[in-house]
Amino acid sequence: MQIGVPKETAPRERRVALAPDSVGRLVKSGARVVVEHDAGAAASFPDSTYTAAGATVVRSLTEALADSDVVTKVQPPSAAEARALKSGTVLVSLFQPASAGDILPALADRSVTALSLERVPRITRAQSMDVLSSQSTVAGYKAVLIGASMMPKFLPMLTTAAGNIAPAKAFILGAGVAGLQAIATARRLGAIVSAFDVRPAVREQVQSLGATFVAADAISSDAEDKGGYAREQSADQQQRTAALLHDHLKQVDLVITTAQIPGRPAPRLITEAMVADMRPGTVIVDLAAETGGNCALTRPGEIVDANGVLVFGAVDIPSSVPTHASQMFGRNVLTLLQHLIKDGAVKIDLDDEITGPMCVVYQGQPRN
Ligand code: NAI
Repeated sequence: MQIGVPKETAPRERRVALAPDSVGRLVKSGARVVVEHDAGAAASFPDSTYTAAGATVVRSLTEALADSDVVTKVQPPSAAEARALKSGTVLVSLFQPASAGDILPALADRSVTALSLERVPRITRAQSMDVLSSQSTVAGYKAVLIGASMMPKFLPMLTTAAGNIAPAKAFILGAGVAGLQAIATARRLGAIVSAFDVRPAVREQVQSLGATFVAADAISSDAEDKGGYAREQSADQQQRTAALLHDHLKQVDLVITTAQIPGRPAPRLITEAMVADMRPGTVIVDLAAETGGNCALTRPGEIVDANGVLVFGAVDIPSSVPTHASQMFGRNVLTLLQHLIKDGAVKIDLDDEITGPMCVVYQGQPRN
Protein backbone atom coordinates (compact mmCIF):
# COMPACT_ATOMS: atom_id res chain seq x y z
CA MET A 1 0.00 0.00 0.00
CA GLN A 2 1.29 3.47 -0.90
CA ILE A 3 0.67 6.62 1.13
CA GLY A 4 1.25 10.00 -0.56
CA VAL A 5 2.15 13.22 1.27
CA PRO A 6 1.93 16.34 -0.93
CA LYS A 7 3.40 19.73 -0.08
CA GLU A 8 0.72 22.09 1.29
CA THR A 9 -0.15 24.93 -1.07
CA ALA A 10 -2.61 27.06 0.96
CA PRO A 11 -1.32 30.54 1.81
CA ARG A 12 0.45 30.71 5.22
CA GLU A 13 0.20 26.91 5.71
CA ARG A 14 3.57 25.70 7.05
CA ARG A 15 2.52 22.32 8.42
CA VAL A 16 2.86 18.92 6.77
CA ALA A 17 0.40 16.06 7.34
CA LEU A 18 3.03 13.47 8.33
CA ALA A 19 6.29 14.32 10.11
CA PRO A 20 9.25 11.94 9.62
CA ASP A 21 8.65 10.11 12.94
CA SER A 22 5.17 9.00 11.82
CA VAL A 23 6.46 8.17 8.33
CA GLY A 24 9.06 5.90 9.94
CA ARG A 25 6.33 4.02 11.83
CA LEU A 26 4.27 3.54 8.66
CA VAL A 27 7.29 2.32 6.70
CA LYS A 28 8.13 -0.16 9.47
CA SER A 29 4.57 -1.48 9.30
CA GLY A 30 5.09 -2.28 5.61
CA ALA A 31 3.64 0.78 3.83
CA ARG A 32 5.46 2.66 1.09
CA VAL A 33 5.40 6.42 1.77
CA VAL A 34 5.96 8.92 -1.05
CA VAL A 35 6.63 12.53 -0.05
CA GLU A 36 6.62 15.51 -2.41
CA HIS A 37 9.93 17.44 -2.48
CA ASP A 38 10.04 20.12 0.26
CA ALA A 39 6.72 19.00 1.78
CA GLY A 40 8.21 19.34 5.27
CA ALA A 41 10.63 22.20 4.59
CA ALA A 42 8.50 24.95 6.16
CA ALA A 43 8.10 22.79 9.29
CA SER A 44 11.89 22.30 9.49
CA PHE A 45 11.79 18.73 8.19
CA PRO A 46 14.10 18.70 5.13
CA ASP A 47 13.72 15.97 2.51
CA SER A 48 16.73 14.15 3.99
CA THR A 49 14.77 13.49 7.22
CA TYR A 50 12.04 11.77 5.21
CA THR A 51 14.55 9.72 3.25
CA ALA A 52 16.17 8.69 6.54
CA ALA A 53 12.74 7.61 7.81
CA GLY A 54 12.37 5.31 4.79
CA ALA A 55 10.18 7.48 2.53
CA THR A 56 10.71 8.09 -1.17
CA VAL A 57 10.97 11.80 -1.97
CA VAL A 58 9.63 12.74 -5.42
CA ARG A 59 9.90 16.00 -7.37
CA SER A 60 6.27 16.66 -8.30
CA LEU A 61 2.73 16.58 -6.96
CA THR A 62 1.74 14.18 -9.74
CA GLU A 63 4.43 11.70 -8.71
CA ALA A 64 3.33 11.95 -5.06
CA LEU A 65 -0.31 11.25 -5.85
CA ALA A 66 -0.48 9.20 -9.07
CA ASP A 67 0.05 5.76 -7.47
CA SER A 68 -0.96 6.47 -3.87
CA ASP A 69 -3.83 4.47 -2.36
CA VAL A 70 -4.03 6.91 0.56
CA VAL A 71 -3.23 10.62 0.36
CA THR A 72 -2.95 12.69 3.50
CA LYS A 73 -2.92 16.47 3.67
CA VAL A 74 -3.42 19.17 6.26
CA GLN A 75 -5.70 21.47 4.24
CA PRO A 76 -8.51 20.31 1.94
CA PRO A 77 -7.22 19.55 -1.58
CA SER A 78 -7.28 22.22 -4.25
CA ALA A 79 -9.05 21.45 -7.53
CA ALA A 80 -5.65 20.66 -9.12
CA GLU A 81 -4.76 18.28 -6.28
CA ALA A 82 -8.16 16.59 -6.48
CA ARG A 83 -7.64 16.02 -10.22
CA ALA A 84 -4.21 14.44 -9.57
CA LEU A 85 -5.66 11.71 -7.29
CA LYS A 86 -5.84 8.22 -8.71
CA SER A 87 -9.13 6.40 -8.93
CA GLY A 88 -10.29 4.94 -5.60
CA THR A 89 -7.91 7.00 -3.43
CA VAL A 90 -8.71 7.40 0.27
CA LEU A 91 -8.10 11.05 1.15
CA VAL A 92 -7.42 11.99 4.79
CA SER A 93 -7.36 15.75 5.47
CA LEU A 94 -9.19 18.66 6.98
CA PHE A 95 -12.21 19.01 4.74
CA GLN A 96 -15.03 21.52 5.17
CA PRO A 97 -17.83 19.87 3.17
CA ALA A 98 -19.71 23.19 2.98
CA SER A 99 -16.97 24.83 0.92
CA ALA A 100 -15.92 21.75 -1.05
CA GLY A 101 -18.27 22.38 -4.00
CA ASP A 102 -15.53 22.94 -6.58
CA ILE A 103 -13.64 19.73 -5.82
CA LEU A 104 -16.63 17.38 -5.50
CA PRO A 105 -16.88 16.72 -9.28
CA ALA A 106 -13.19 15.65 -9.38
CA LEU A 107 -13.68 13.44 -6.33
CA ALA A 108 -16.79 11.88 -7.88
CA ASP A 109 -14.95 11.34 -11.15
CA ARG A 110 -12.20 9.42 -9.38
CA SER A 111 -14.41 7.56 -6.86
CA VAL A 112 -12.42 9.13 -4.03
CA THR A 113 -13.33 8.39 -0.41
CA ALA A 114 -12.68 11.44 1.79
CA LEU A 115 -12.29 11.27 5.55
CA SER A 116 -12.64 14.66 7.24
CA LEU A 117 -10.24 15.13 10.14
CA GLU A 118 -12.57 17.77 11.66
CA ARG A 119 -15.07 14.99 12.24
CA VAL A 120 -13.09 12.66 14.45
CA PRO A 121 -15.64 11.98 17.21
CA ARG A 122 -14.62 13.25 20.67
CA ILE A 123 -14.66 9.81 22.26
CA THR A 124 -11.86 8.32 24.36
CA ARG A 125 -10.92 5.76 21.70
CA ALA A 126 -10.43 8.47 19.08
CA GLN A 127 -8.64 11.03 21.26
CA SER A 128 -5.25 10.17 19.79
CA MET A 129 -6.64 10.81 16.26
CA ASP A 130 -8.18 14.20 17.06
CA VAL A 131 -6.33 16.91 15.15
CA LEU A 132 -8.69 19.63 16.37
CA SER A 133 -7.54 18.87 19.92
CA SER A 134 -3.86 18.60 19.11
CA GLN A 135 -3.89 21.80 17.09
CA SER A 136 -5.90 23.60 19.78
CA THR A 137 -3.17 22.66 22.25
CA VAL A 138 -0.72 24.46 19.98
CA ALA A 139 -3.09 27.44 19.62
CA GLY A 140 -3.66 27.79 23.37
CA TYR A 141 0.08 27.80 24.04
CA LYS A 142 0.98 30.23 21.26
CA ALA A 143 -1.92 32.62 22.05
CA VAL A 144 -0.36 33.36 25.43
CA LEU A 145 3.06 34.01 23.88
CA ILE A 146 1.50 36.34 21.30
CA GLY A 147 -0.45 38.14 24.02
CA ALA A 148 2.66 38.43 26.21
CA SER A 149 4.64 39.97 23.36
CA MET A 150 1.86 42.50 22.64
CA MET A 151 1.49 43.53 26.29
CA PRO A 152 3.17 46.66 27.61
CA LYS A 153 3.88 44.76 30.85
CA PHE A 154 5.74 41.74 32.21
CA LEU A 155 3.71 38.64 33.01
CA PRO A 156 5.73 37.43 36.05
CA MET A 157 6.36 39.06 39.37
CA LEU A 158 9.89 40.48 39.41
CA THR A 159 11.99 41.55 42.33
CA THR A 160 14.68 43.87 41.01
CA ALA A 161 17.01 46.63 42.14
CA ALA A 162 14.67 48.96 40.27
CA GLY A 163 11.79 47.92 42.46
CA ASN A 164 9.26 45.15 42.59
CA ILE A 165 6.90 44.40 39.72
CA ALA A 166 3.51 42.86 40.45
CA PRO A 167 2.52 39.84 38.32
CA ALA A 168 0.07 40.43 35.49
CA LYS A 169 -3.43 38.98 35.57
CA ALA A 170 -4.44 36.68 32.72
CA PHE A 171 -8.04 35.64 32.12
CA ILE A 172 -8.91 32.66 29.91
CA LEU A 173 -12.43 32.46 28.52
CA GLY A 174 -13.41 28.91 27.58
CA ALA A 175 -11.50 26.12 29.30
CA GLY A 176 -11.55 23.41 26.62
CA VAL A 177 -8.39 22.08 25.02
CA ALA A 178 -7.01 25.47 23.90
CA GLY A 179 -8.10 27.19 27.11
CA LEU A 180 -6.50 24.66 29.46
CA GLN A 181 -3.21 24.90 27.55
CA ALA A 182 -3.44 28.70 27.69
CA ILE A 183 -3.95 28.52 31.46
CA ALA A 184 -0.93 26.24 31.88
CA THR A 185 1.25 28.46 29.67
CA ALA A 186 0.24 31.70 31.39
CA ARG A 187 0.94 30.09 34.77
CA ARG A 188 4.38 28.93 33.60
CA LEU A 189 5.13 32.52 32.60
CA GLY A 190 4.22 33.68 36.08
CA ALA A 191 0.83 35.35 35.58
CA ILE A 192 -2.01 35.17 38.07
CA VAL A 193 -4.58 33.25 36.06
CA SER A 194 -8.36 33.05 36.21
CA ALA A 195 -10.71 31.27 33.83
CA PHE A 196 -14.37 31.00 32.97
CA ASP A 197 -16.36 28.32 31.20
CA VAL A 198 -20.04 27.48 31.07
CA ARG A 199 -19.36 23.79 31.79
CA PRO A 200 -19.13 23.28 35.55
CA ALA A 201 -17.17 20.05 34.93
CA VAL A 202 -14.04 22.03 34.04
CA ARG A 203 -13.83 23.84 37.38
CA GLU A 204 -11.60 21.13 38.86
CA GLN A 205 -9.33 21.03 35.80
CA VAL A 206 -8.91 24.81 35.94
CA GLN A 207 -8.11 24.71 39.64
CA SER A 208 -5.70 21.80 39.26
CA LEU A 209 -3.66 24.00 36.90
CA GLY A 210 -3.38 26.63 39.62
CA ALA A 211 -5.95 29.06 38.22
CA THR A 212 -9.05 30.53 39.83
CA PHE A 213 -12.39 29.49 38.35
CA VAL A 214 -14.45 32.63 37.91
CA ALA A 215 -17.67 30.97 38.55
CA ALA A 216 -20.96 31.79 38.81
CA ASP A 217 -24.43 31.14 39.29
CA ALA A 218 -24.14 31.97 35.57
CA ILE A 219 -23.43 28.34 34.84
CA SER A 220 -25.81 25.46 35.13
CA SER A 221 -25.46 21.71 35.37
CA ASP A 222 -27.08 21.17 31.93
CA ALA A 223 -24.41 23.29 30.18
CA GLU A 224 -22.83 20.21 28.61
CA ASP A 225 -24.24 17.86 25.97
CA LYS A 226 -23.67 14.11 25.72
CA GLY A 227 -20.56 14.64 23.58
CA GLY A 228 -18.97 16.76 26.32
CA TYR A 229 -19.41 19.97 24.31
CA ALA A 230 -21.07 23.16 25.59
CA ARG A 231 -24.72 23.89 24.83
CA GLU A 232 -25.80 27.41 23.95
CA GLN A 233 -26.78 29.39 27.08
CA SER A 234 -30.34 30.63 27.70
CA ALA A 235 -30.96 34.40 27.49
CA ASP A 236 -31.07 34.63 31.28
CA GLN A 237 -27.79 32.72 31.68
CA GLN A 238 -26.19 34.90 29.01
CA GLN A 239 -27.18 38.03 30.94
CA ARG A 240 -25.72 36.75 34.20
CA THR A 241 -22.53 35.69 32.39
CA ALA A 242 -22.25 39.15 30.81
CA ALA A 243 -22.51 40.92 34.18
CA LEU A 244 -19.88 38.62 35.67
CA LEU A 245 -17.48 39.06 32.76
CA HIS A 246 -17.96 42.83 32.57
CA ASP A 247 -16.83 43.14 36.16
CA HIS A 248 -13.91 40.72 35.93
CA LEU A 249 -12.51 42.11 32.65
CA LYS A 250 -11.88 45.51 34.31
CA GLN A 251 -9.23 43.89 36.50
CA VAL A 252 -7.12 41.91 34.02
CA ASP A 253 -4.12 42.56 31.73
CA LEU A 254 -4.35 39.68 29.24
CA VAL A 255 -7.44 37.90 27.94
CA ILE A 256 -7.35 34.74 25.81
CA THR A 257 -10.74 33.76 24.43
CA THR A 258 -11.39 30.22 23.16
CA ALA A 259 -15.14 29.73 23.69
CA GLN A 260 -16.86 27.70 21.00
CA ILE A 261 -19.92 25.59 20.43
CA PRO A 262 -19.49 23.07 17.60
CA GLY A 263 -21.30 23.98 14.42
CA ARG A 264 -22.41 27.40 15.74
CA PRO A 265 -20.89 30.87 15.43
CA ALA A 266 -18.60 31.61 18.40
CA PRO A 267 -20.51 32.96 21.42
CA ARG A 268 -20.13 36.75 21.65
CA LEU A 269 -18.86 37.14 25.22
CA ILE A 270 -17.01 40.48 25.24
CA THR A 271 -19.06 43.46 24.07
CA GLU A 272 -17.79 46.84 22.93
CA ALA A 273 -19.03 48.34 26.21
CA MET A 274 -16.96 45.82 28.18
CA VAL A 275 -13.85 46.70 26.15
CA ALA A 276 -14.50 50.41 26.78
CA ASP A 277 -14.37 49.71 30.52
CA MET A 278 -11.10 47.73 30.36
CA ARG A 279 -7.76 49.24 31.35
CA PRO A 280 -5.63 50.67 28.50
CA GLY A 281 -2.77 48.30 27.77
CA THR A 282 -4.94 45.20 28.19
CA VAL A 283 -4.54 42.70 25.35
CA ILE A 284 -7.26 40.35 24.08
CA VAL A 285 -6.18 37.42 21.88
CA ASP A 286 -9.33 35.97 20.31
CA LEU A 287 -8.78 32.39 19.15
CA ALA A 288 -12.38 32.16 17.99
CA ALA A 289 -11.74 34.82 15.31
CA GLU A 290 -12.26 32.30 12.50
CA THR A 291 -15.81 31.52 13.63
CA GLY A 292 -16.91 35.11 14.28
CA GLY A 293 -14.96 35.94 17.43
CA ASN A 294 -15.75 35.93 21.15
CA CYS A 295 -15.20 39.70 21.20
CA ALA A 296 -17.40 42.17 19.32
CA LEU A 297 -14.34 44.10 18.06
CA THR A 298 -12.45 41.10 16.67
CA ARG A 299 -11.30 41.27 13.02
CA PRO A 300 -9.70 38.04 11.75
CA GLY A 301 -5.96 38.47 11.28
CA GLU A 302 -5.96 42.08 12.52
CA ILE A 303 -5.07 44.00 15.66
CA VAL A 304 -7.78 46.49 16.61
CA ASP A 305 -6.80 49.29 19.01
CA ALA A 306 -9.82 50.35 21.08
CA ASN A 307 -8.58 53.26 23.19
CA GLY A 308 -5.45 51.41 24.18
CA VAL A 309 -7.05 47.95 24.52
CA LEU A 310 -5.59 45.75 21.78
CA VAL A 311 -7.83 43.05 20.29
CA PHE A 312 -6.05 40.48 18.10
CA GLY A 313 -8.16 38.19 15.91
CA ALA A 314 -5.82 35.19 15.84
CA VAL A 315 -5.92 32.97 12.75
CA ASP A 316 -3.72 30.10 11.50
CA ILE A 317 -1.96 29.88 14.84
CA PRO A 318 -0.91 26.18 14.68
CA SER A 319 0.91 26.98 11.43
CA SER A 320 3.13 29.38 13.38
CA VAL A 321 4.51 26.46 15.45
CA PRO A 322 4.88 24.17 12.42
CA THR A 323 7.37 21.60 13.72
CA HIS A 324 5.43 20.43 16.74
CA ALA A 325 2.04 21.15 15.18
CA SER A 326 3.02 18.82 12.28
CA GLN A 327 4.45 16.22 14.63
CA MET A 328 1.18 16.12 16.60
CA PHE A 329 -0.97 16.26 13.45
CA GLY A 330 1.10 13.42 11.97
CA ARG A 331 0.71 11.23 15.04
CA ASN A 332 -3.06 11.79 14.89
CA VAL A 333 -3.06 10.74 11.22
CA LEU A 334 -0.79 7.76 11.98
CA THR A 335 -3.17 6.48 14.69
CA LEU A 336 -6.12 6.91 12.35
CA LEU A 337 -4.32 5.03 9.55
CA GLN A 338 -3.39 2.22 11.97
CA HIS A 339 -7.10 2.01 12.81
CA LEU A 340 -8.03 1.85 9.10
CA ILE A 341 -5.35 -0.49 7.78
CA LYS A 342 -6.27 -4.18 7.89
CA ASP A 343 -4.08 -6.81 6.24
CA GLY A 344 -1.98 -4.20 4.45
CA ALA A 345 -4.89 -2.27 2.90
CA VAL A 346 -7.21 0.52 4.03
CA LYS A 347 -10.70 -0.77 4.81
CA ILE A 348 -13.52 1.78 5.09
CA ASP A 349 -16.23 0.48 7.42
CA LEU A 350 -19.08 2.99 7.39
CA ASP A 351 -20.60 1.33 10.48
CA ASP A 352 -17.45 2.01 12.50
CA GLU A 353 -18.03 4.66 15.21
CA ILE A 354 -14.91 6.58 14.12
CA THR A 355 -14.79 6.08 10.34
CA GLY A 356 -18.58 6.47 9.80
CA PRO A 357 -18.92 10.08 10.99
CA MET A 358 -15.60 11.09 9.36
CA CYS A 359 -16.48 9.82 5.91
CA VAL A 360 -17.85 12.84 4.00
CA VAL A 361 -17.39 11.37 0.51
CA TYR A 362 -17.68 7.62 -0.11
CA GLN A 363 -16.48 6.29 -3.45
CA GLY A 364 -17.17 9.67 -5.01
CA GLN A 365 -20.59 10.26 -3.43
CA PRO A 366 -21.03 13.01 -0.76
CA ARG A 367 -22.52 11.78 2.54
CA ASN A 368 -22.99 13.03 6.14
P1 NAI B 1 -13.22 23.11 22.94
O1 NAI B 1 -14.57 22.73 22.41
O2 NAI B 1 -12.35 22.08 23.54
O3 NAI B 1 -13.35 24.28 23.99
C1 NAI B 1 -14.24 25.36 23.84
C2 NAI B 1 -14.70 25.71 25.23
O4 NAI B 1 -15.55 26.83 25.15
C3 NAI B 1 -15.49 24.58 25.90
O5 NAI B 1 -14.90 24.24 27.14
C4 NAI B 1 -16.86 25.20 26.08
O6 NAI B 1 -17.53 24.74 27.26
C5 NAI B 1 -16.52 26.67 26.15
N1 NAI B 1 -17.66 27.54 25.93
C6 NAI B 1 -18.68 27.41 25.05
N2 NAI B 1 -19.54 28.45 25.19
C7 NAI B 1 -19.05 29.24 26.16
C8 NAI B 1 -19.50 30.45 26.76
N3 NAI B 1 -20.62 31.04 26.36
N4 NAI B 1 -18.75 30.98 27.75
C9 NAI B 1 -17.60 30.38 28.16
N5 NAI B 1 -17.14 29.22 27.63
C10 NAI B 1 -17.85 28.67 26.66
O7 NAI B 1 -12.49 23.85 21.77
P2 NAI B 1 -10.93 24.03 21.59
O8 NAI B 1 -10.43 22.85 20.85
O9 NAI B 1 -10.29 24.41 22.88
O10 NAI B 1 -10.88 25.28 20.61
C11 NAI B 1 -11.13 26.55 21.15
C12 NAI B 1 -11.24 27.61 20.05
O11 NAI B 1 -9.98 27.84 19.47
C13 NAI B 1 -12.18 27.24 18.91
O12 NAI B 1 -12.90 28.38 18.50
C14 NAI B 1 -11.23 26.81 17.82
O13 NAI B 1 -11.79 26.93 16.53
C15 NAI B 1 -10.14 27.81 18.08
N6 NAI B 1 -8.86 27.50 17.48
C16 NAI B 1 -8.31 28.55 16.79
C17 NAI B 1 -7.12 28.41 16.16
C18 NAI B 1 -6.56 29.61 15.46
O14 NAI B 1 -5.57 29.49 14.76
N7 NAI B 1 -7.18 30.75 15.63
C19 NAI B 1 -6.44 27.09 16.16
C20 NAI B 1 -7.06 26.04 16.95
C21 NAI B 1 -8.26 26.27 17.58
